Amino acid sequence: MCGIAGYLGPRKAVDVVFDQLKRLEYRGYDSAGIAFPERQDIRILKKAGKLSELGRLLEDTETSDVRTAMGHSRWATHGAPTDTNAHPHFDQTENVSIIHNGIIENYLELREELAAKGHHFHSQTDTEVAAHVIGDEYDKGVPLEEAVRLAVKRLRGAYALVVMSRTEPGKLVATRNASPLILGFGEHENMLASDIPALLPYTREVMVLEEGDIAVLTDHSVRIMDGDSREVPIKAMTIEWDIAAAERGGYEHFMLKEIHEQPDVIRQTLAGRIDDKNQIRFEQIFGEHVWHEIDRVNIIACGTAYHAGLMGKYLFEKLLRLPCDVYYSSEFRYGDPVLSPKSLAIFISQSGETADSLAALRLCKEKRIRTLGIVNVIGSSIARECDRTIFTQAGPEISVASTKAYTAQVLVLTLLALYVAQVTEAPGIRVPSVVEELKGLSEKAKACLNTEDVVLALAEDVRNAPLCFFLGRGADAYVGMEGALKLKEIAYIPTQEMPAGEMKHGPIALIQPGVVSIFGATNDAVLEHSSIREKVISNMQEVKARGGTIVAITTEEDNTVERVAEYVVKIPKCESEFLSALLSVIPLQLLSYHVARLNGCEIDQPRNLAKSVTVE
Ligand code: AGP
Repeated sequence: MCGIAGYLGPRKAVDVVFDQLKRLEYRGYDSAGIAFPERQDIRILKKAGKLSELGRLLEDTETSDVRTAMGHSRWATHGAPTDTNAHPHFDQTENVSIIHNGIIENYLELREELAAKGHHFHSQTDTEVAAHVIGDEYDKGVPLEEAVRLAVKRLRGAYALVVMSRTEPGKLVATRNASPLILGFGEHENMLASDIPALLPYTREVMVLEEGDIAVLTDHSVRIMDGDSREVPIKAMTIEWDIAAAERGGYEHFMLKEIHEQPDVIRQTLAGRIDDKNQIRFEQIFGEHVWHEIDRVNIIACGTAYHAGLMGKYLFEKLLRLPCDVYYSSEFRYGDPVLSPKSLAIFISQSGETADSLAALRLCKEKRIRTLGIVNVIGSSIARECDRTIFTQAGPEISVASTKAYTAQVLVLTLLALYVAQVTEAPGIRVPSVVEELKGLSEKAKACLNTEDVVLALAEDVRNAPLCFFLGRGADAYVGMEGALKLKEIAYIPTQEMPAGEMKHGPIALIQPGVVSIFGATNDAVLEHSSIREKVISNMQEVKARGGTIVAITTEEDNTVERVAEYVVKIPKCESEFLSALLSVIPLQLLSYHVARLNGCEIDQPRNLAKSVTVE
């Protein structure tokens, strides 16, 4: 989720691009850089840290005559946030410079192939490899846009690329696949950016570059062609949003934007971790022998991350028969836990800065327990201090209520469980078939977003509920706990969350007219002559008999729950029950959002809360 910007025209191009990068800072960044033609060369200035660090470099550089520039603010996915890893990057001959947003999945193979041809690389990034691939084509004497067109056919993964060349200084070439890129059109000036807010101060005439298309920009022209060099017509649209609305992508709140980003986040989280044989691979994770040795997994986290950890427990125990405990970080560090020397401690944290989780991590390291992080923010404390870290690659999560990070965390735990199954040849798991399901999950998540109409009607009922139960069995119970936290923290509605079978042991005393009970019923696996869903339906009937309002989340092919539930939300079914349960979090997120909106709550900054709890 990097920020990309480029400008060609009569203004001071470096100042424009720096301003554009500042308008993209909500996308998060850990380093930034700018490239521009200088005499017969390309000048690159780049710096790790906040944008102001780059600003200080620019203050000491004469750029007032520059009329073409491109810039990048990096949200690191490969390689730590350092000056060297910052974009832009050169190719081998420094004829070409590029900036990139996304993940080049086959960058390791390409890097080896080019190194064998004598290429030298300075950074750890996939982007520098892409620069060398483009330069490799450009050095054959074709125009820059043709070099880009040929080069991207060798790239696999998600990318938005902008390319500048030393020999064609008044031109920027841009292309994209799965990462956003927007063109902006002005009077004798043209520009581009990864998001609309960066363009609005200069133009409201924009066009989203389509997947696979290649744009060639100068200060007086824009041409677009497809991957087969066929001309693509320019279709500009006029943006009416104000800048604040544009930062939210036109959504009313970051939370709604981030809920809707989840289909893309699923693809981003999986990117680079599934090879063409449907095998899972993780870079820089423990050696394979370690996974044969580990005898227990302890997952330590807070809040939403804790709920993701419960899904991890479900996966490790069900798929791997590997004992797993999940601890609240605050309880772990003061609970004097019994830790096997062969155990693995997994720390899940979106921010990577949660004080209780960090303290628990340091306790494990004192006890010489292996530690693995599942973290969203590269360069964060937990990411740096764990022995190994897998990044969720969900992009910056701005809203205090965590949504896309949860989905990404559960996906990483799923990938990890499958990876361990693959490495230890765990019996009874067909890794490639589950991997095939993961590849289709993004589309199914998109379908879950279409439940918004049903959820809106439901929100009208739930908004005044004195109490809302979240109930289910197995993974549905765990997802229900996350749904309950959402409703608590942004709509301030009291909730009770537990396995459905537990209701009759006391909590059902709270059921009365007006109380809403939301049941996750996505699992139709048969157990002891009846399905899990049938057992959940029995629990629904117990609640209904006492006057409670019943809501059921089930899968599309089911038509049994509507016999009992007043509201039914249907989502696509997955072969693996834990993936159906995971998808059911999307309507629950939408429900909490719409209840909060209807009740006039402050959604992105809910009362009493902070995005990262860096205090005990
Ligand atoms: C989730 O919506 C909350 N914002 C909160 O529970 C959060 O998940 C918790 O504080 C953990 O944060 P972390 O993932 O950054 O460690």
